[in-house]
Amino acid sequence: MSRRVKSRTREKVDLLIVNADELLTLADESQKPRTGKRMQELGIIRDGGVAMKEGRIVAVGKTADVARTFKAENVISANGEVVLPGFVDPHTHLVFAGSREDEFQMRIAGAPYLEILKAGGGILRTVKETRRASFEKLVENGTKALDAMLEHGTTTIEAKSGYGLTTKDEMKMLEVVQRLNQLHSADIVPTFLGAHAIPPEYSNSPQDYVSLVTEEMIPKVTAKGLAEFCDVFCEKGVFNLEQTRRILNAGKNSGLKPKVHADEMSRLGGAELAAGIGAVSADHMLFSSKEGIEAMADKGVIATLLPAAAFSLMTNRYADARAMINLGVPIALGTDFNPNCWIENQQLIIALACHFMKLTPAEAITAATINAAHAISREKEVGSLEPGKKADVTILDIPNHKCLGYRFGVNLVDKVIKSGRLVIDMEANRNEFRILDEQKM
Ligand code: NIG
Ligand code: FE
Repeated sequence: MSRRVKSRTREKVDLLIVNADELLTLADESQKPRTGKRMQELGIIRDGGVAMKEGRIVAVGKTADVARTFKAENVISANGEVVLPGFVDPHTHLVFAGSREDEFQMRIAGAPYLEILKAGGGILRTVKETRRASFEKLVENGTKALDAMLEHGTTTIEAKSGYGLTTKDEMKMLEVVQRLNQLHSADIVPTFLGAHAIPPEYSNSPQDYVSLVTEEMIPKVTAKGLAEFCDVFCEKGVFNLEQTRRILNAGKNSGLKPKVHADEMSRLGGAELAAGIGAVSADHMLFSSKEGIEAMADKGVIATLLPAAAFSLMTNRYADARAMINLGVPIALGTDFNPNCWIENQQLIIALACHFMKLTPAEAITAATINAAHAISREKEVGSLEPGKKADVTILDIPNHKCLGYRFGVNLVDKVIKSGRLVIDMEANRNEFRILDEQKM
């Protein structure tokens, strides 16, 4: 059993989980993102237990050891279930107004994503609606998405701006993110994505928009401490390599860690750029070159893969995760929740990663927990079950981890514990609608 304090009498803690068929600790001494074969290692404890106190994990081990050492008034039995770290979603566009189901029809009919954007739809349409929306409306929308994420076992979420595209509206979005972080029990990590599209006001002078991002938006956002990362949609017809570099360097100089939407729809060289600039992650990577992937492996840049975004694009192309794993790039998985790819559920992302990118459930679980935590610089706090870390725990109603991905399309969550507090309890819900025999009479 790994734990912090040793004592002879049973120490009182706030909450115990016992009898997990499989307890996936994802514990790792190296504190580095997992690569290669190590992506398969889940640190499984059979018949496992966890002790939690004051929002933190105190001990993790065999049920017998944990129960011998600790006592609590609140004890959860995870008999027949899998206990794992709360999922971490390292790439979302959490805050926006409106929806784009009519574009979904257009995509079904064959309209390409970038064509829709060029015609003023896509991101630009959501920009219009988000600019018009009140602060309160955006908080309401964000809350709904966060509720769904938490219900599906995700406890830490990265959230990007990018539907404002004016200094005022980008700040508004990041202030909404900040407010959501205060209001919701999920933890949110903010990313500035002022370079998500060229707004219509600048369609004839994109360089001026880049200057606005670097000279006005970044200083204002960082002065108020509204973001931790800076991201750019580096894509043909959106921001080119030179513009992306300018923006990410400006962000870096102001203390924002770089991320990049790289090679999603064309081979522009986003992976090479991410490696060159020392990005924390390169995201999407459907068209990345072998050289780019090798450069990322060399620099330890994480590939955040977003199979639901690829699914939504309907081009039958997915990132070559196997090549990346073979070349030693750490893989993380995220939803890319946005109005073009409306999904809050990391369990389904794991299923898509297994089916379309041929990750094993174990690799996909690693990618959606500890590696995802690394991708947003939260590896010291979340992503694994280890003493000292936040008590963010998801309990799934499946007998072993191989059922994740294999069973898809329903919510497998039984319970979610966030910072040591039971916030989701599906079992209690189900007991509400299960009719007892005597009630039928
Ligand atoms: O990650 N690619 C750019 N951004 C998002 C899509 C945003 C949108 O369509 O509104 C993405 O796929
Ligand atoms: Fe995205």
